Formats: sequence, C-alpha cells, structure tokens
Amino acid sequence: MDTTRRGLLIGGAALAPTLVAAETLPPPAIRAHLGVTENPYGPSPAARRAAAGALEKTPYYAWSLEPPLVEAIARREGVSPDMVGLCNGSLEALSLLSTHFSKTGPIVAPQPTYATPLTYAERQGAKLDWIPVTGDHQIDLPALAARARGAGCVYVCNPNNPTGLLMDPDALRAFCMAASKQAPVIVDEAYVEISPDPVRHSMIDLVKAGHDVVVARTFSKVYGMAGLRVGFIIARPERVRQLKSLIPTHKGRPGLAAALACYGDATYLAGAKAYLEGCRETIYAICKANGLGYLPSFGTYVFVDTGKPNLAFQKTLATMGVEVRVFDSARHPTWIRVGTASPAELEVFAQVLPRALAV
Ligand SMILES: Cc1ncc(COP(=O)(O)O)c(C=O)c1O
Repeated sequence: MDTTRRGLLIGGAALAPTLVAAETLPPPAIRAHLGVTENPYGPSPAARRAAAGALEKTPYYAWSLEPPLVEAIARREGVSPDMVGLCNGSLEALSLLSTHFSKTGPIVAPQPTYATPLTYAERQGAKLDWIPVTGDHQIDLPALAARARGAGCVYVCNPNNPTGLLMDPDALRAFCMAASKQAPVIVDEAYVEISPDPVRHSMIDLVKAGHDVVVARTFSKVYGMAGLRVGFIIARPERVRQLKSLIPTHKGRPGLAAALACYGDATYLAGAKAYLEGCRETIYAICKANGLGYLPSFGTYVFVDTGKPNLAFQKTLATMGVEVRVFDSARHPTWIRVGTASPAELEVFAQVLPRALAV
C-alpha cells in the first residue's frame, strides 16, 4: 500500500494537515538577491521602447531583425558581418562551442570561473582540465598555455567571474596568440563594457588579425537585458558558421529589437557604469565595516572573504533572506560572491551581515 495513503488511514484526519503543512513550508523569503550578476539599472529607454514595439509583431518569427543587428555589431567592432554570430544569450554560444570543441580534447579553464557552459559541456561528455588561479587570484596564463597543446579549446573569462579581476591586456594578448595556435581560445567578455578601457581589454583585435580566438559578448549584463536573451560572438567566419550549425532555434523578436536600439549607446553605458560602480563601492564599504577582505572588481559582483566556511555561511545568509553564490575553488573555501544588485537589496545585506557573521 502507498505510504501516504496508509499514513492518512492510520493517522486519521488530524495527522494529514500536519504532514501537508510540513511538506509545503515555504523557504525563507529572499529579500536580497545577491547571487546574481544582472544589472538592475535595466535596459536603456530606447531598448525598452523597441522591445515593447516588437510585441506588435510577435505572431511572426524575427529572421529579418538578425541581419541589421549583425551589421550594426560588425560596423561598430570593425569586422565583416560573417565574423559576427548571434546567440540566445552568450551562454548558448559558450556551451555549444565548448562542447563541440571538446570532441578533440579537454577544455582547459581556470578555476574559479564562470563554469556554467563548461559543466554543460561536461554533461555532454567533455573532459574538463581546471587550472587553479594563482595565489593573488589571477588566471594563471602560463599554466593554461602549458596545457593548450592537445586541448579541445581553452576558455578564459575577462574580467573573471567570480573574482572580478581583469587580466593585463598585453599578457592576455600574448597568451591568446600563442595558445590559439594549439586550440581555439574562447574569451568571455561578458562584463567588458564597464572595464576602464573596453577596446584595449577586448581581444577582438586578435580575431581581426586572423587568430583562432572566439570573443563572446552579451546584452545580459551591462546592457541590463538578461531576460531578453541576446548575445553574440566575434570570431573567424568558420567559427561563426560552426556556431550557426549548432544553434537549433531562432531568436526572440523583442530581444533583437532592443539590442539593435541600444548597442553602443554611450550615454546609456555611462549611466549603467556609474550605477554599477556605485553599487560596488557600497559593497566595499559594507565589507570594510565588517572587517572582511574583498577583491576590487571590474564586474557586476564582488568576491568577498568571509573567513567562514562558505557553504555554511551561504546557508546562514539564506535563512536571513540574503542569497549569495559560492564557487568550486580549493583556494577559496571561505569566499562568497556578492552581486551588485539594487541599493535596497544592498541595504538588506548591510543589516544582515553582522548578524550572520556572529552566528
Ligand atoms: C562570465 C559570464 N559569461 C556569460 C554569462 C552568460 O550570460 P548570458 O547567457 O545571459 O549572455 C554569464 C552570466 O552570468 C557570465 O557571468
């Protein structure tokens, strides 16, 4: 006999509501979503208008909106349109390409990093070759380069997530040029728009020079459009063709329209950057007030050393309504990643943190 049914019969009417109540007890309400890396500043006014306008035409697929966006990106980045590949958020391109490349060898990547596309590849059978960051939390480029021969691809993220650290652009350039002779190098530039000099920090110039480097960008972070799912790669035409052959579905009309309306909008980007920098400063101040170390970040998040085992501390914060992320990294057993979030959420964090540290 099924236990639920037996329980009901044996326990009688009084037992049933108790069981139901225990099973459906809601988790503690999260009041501060600091586990995310989105930009609550949100899309530019032009992007909002374009997305809203696109709803009129949502009965129809949006193929016709792809070429204008590809051309706008190509023009702005100084590449030919066949070097631009659109995707449903950069995660799609990162996942599909790294999985595809992994057929010829392992994926070499730093740890910690944005592992989501790589663990996707692992679920499809890829082997991952994690290279720990150095003692000063930097991606260990010489160690990655030493593993590039025989690799399926090499993945780096700049600025890295979760550390928020940018690599020295000259060192990264030299690394990409050397490593891409052995295997394709994927450079994830999800947050590059808020770096001090986006052009110098981007590896797009290497793609233009013909190197086998795949630069991934997104409208999800600084452009504030994570829910609209638009990203792109800049890469050699054969890599773009590979991506197109791997993507099974079309893109959404509101996202394409919004992306076209805001790409390269300098006024909007300056506002978003100022907002995100302000949020980072708030997190630094909260850390200092609580005597916690942190890494100065170039992303939409700050990596913080709580001094406490991070998984347990994450749970403690969750019971107090604050959500943060922890990462697999032998070097960082006490570190959490705190997203820039909104000022109201950071205020909750400021109130809760001293209590959580006292547990
Ligand atoms: C470093 C990095 N790359 C890529 C992504 C994927 O973003 P999307 O698929 O929304 O473009 C994220 C999202 O968190 C990220 O942190």
